[in-house]
Amino acid sequence: MDLVEVQFAAAGKSVFVQPGTTLLAAAGMAGVDWPTGCRRGMCGTDAARLDAPAGCLEPPAAHERGTLDRMGLTGDCRLLCSAKVVAGRVVVRGDAVTD
Ligand code: FES
Repeated sequence: MDLVEVQFAAAGKSVFVQPGTTLLAAAGMAGVDWPTGCRRGMCGTDAARLDAPAGCLEPPAAHERGTLDRMGLTGDCRLLCSAKVVAGRVVVRGDAVTD
């Protein structure tokens, strides 16, 4: 099984993780301190803008989609606690709200 590269642009750090790993877990492995709250896709504290080509991430589950919709975040935004990697390379560009 091929590892997936996750880059955290602002921190200048990257890590290779197993498919199925959440981006929040990848942040922890990379030594990136990302703000979190519920860790269940409900609060939106960890919303981030990503560069993630199609197929790099599992699609958002209903609860994550609902939170992103409630926050008015679309397209390239995901919740780090909920988004799981599949393949390739994902770049976390920054906080979805403040960056
Ligand atoms: S930590 Fe609450 S949505 Fe991810």
